[in-house]
Amino acid sequence: MPSRDFEVRQVLKAYRNGIISEQLFAQEMDRLCGSGNGSPQPKASKRPAGLLGVTGDAVLDAPDGLAKLMQKKTYDRSAEDLGNIVALEHVNVTVPDQAKAALFYINGLGLTRDPYMMTGPANMWVNAGRQQFHLPTSKPQVLRGHVGVVVSDYDALPQRLSRISETLGGTRFAFHESDGYIEATCPWGNRIHCFAPATRFGPMAVGIPYVEFDVPVGTAEGIARFYSQVMGAQAARLEDAGGPFACVTAGTGQNLFFRESDKPTPPYDRHHIQVYINDFSGPHRRLAAKGLITQESDEHQYRFQDIVDPDSGKALFTIEHEVRSMKHPLYLRPLVNRNPSQSIVGYSPGEDARNWAMASN
Ligand SMILES: [Fe+2]
Repeated sequence: MPSRDFEVRQVLKAYRNGIISEQLFAQEMDRLCGSGNGSPQPKASKRPAGLLGVTGDAVLDAPDGLAKLMQKKTYDRSAEDLGNIVALEHVNVTVPDQAKAALFYINGLGLTRDPYMMTGPANMWVNAGRQQFHLPTSKPQVLRGHVGVVVSDYDALPQRLSRISETLGGTRFAFHESDGYIEATCPWGNRIHCFAPATRFGPMAVGIPYVEFDVPVGTAEGIARFYSQVMGAQAARLEDAGGPFACVTAGTGQNLFFRESDKPTPPYDRHHIQVYINDFSGPHRRLAAKGLITQESDEHQYRFQDIVDPDSGKALFTIEHEVRSMKHPLYLRPLVNRNPSQSIVGYSPGEDARNWAMASN
């Protein structure tokens, strides 16, 4: 016969994992620890002192932990909605020189070369938290906008970028500090806005929270309509001090921004972004009906590149989307991240790795 402590642990585990209801939890705890009258009342949360510490969970094992856990709270449930795009995973720009690319993305930005995939000179995958840059070797591609990156050890970033400055002389590499971020430009002109972790990026300690594209004036409304009606994403036309832009939710703490700009849009050079979506077939059906699918990659993936106003049918902007289902084998693949401040001088044992997320208190 299982001991009472064992049963308590199992009931707590089932409750915390959402397997049993609060009412059943209360009844079971009452049966195991309380008066035994079977009443699903909050008093069931009062455990005998002898059972304190049985779970090993500091919150639950606190004297009033269980009572706090069962306190009625109200929540804004819509705040948890993501829309159909559940993750923006990689940005792909080809580069002509892997050594220079490594200097910029690995040594400068402090990101991590994927140790498992694309390990030869023909391509490099660069891990940034749970996101990546994909950098196949070819003539340079330049994203028409900029990429936001949350970097580890933000305070040390200027020093890291200074160290690669001389070696990258004669390229388009540059960096400067701006209001709340550091803009670093890769040797071929891709602009990266580097940030320290912040509330608006969720728990991200290192990663790609957004990609912002510069789009023609007057297109933000139609772009938001496209993502909302065709992709099933959360999208809206917004306006701030920088002018109108389309804001698209692209994951937890992640966005695609399309900011209106009166500067001429450079020709599209086939760089791409990759997103995971939940409803995979709905957008495919709608894109196919408009003749917008450009590649049927495999059962888990298709591509499109034209963003078209659903109302007018007018093409507003071009950026290839590699669209993957959540059944894609690479979905939620764990990515290795390093501590960029680790050094052979003053080496700290046990501090080589970095978590992509901030520690929660
Ligand atoms: Fe890709």
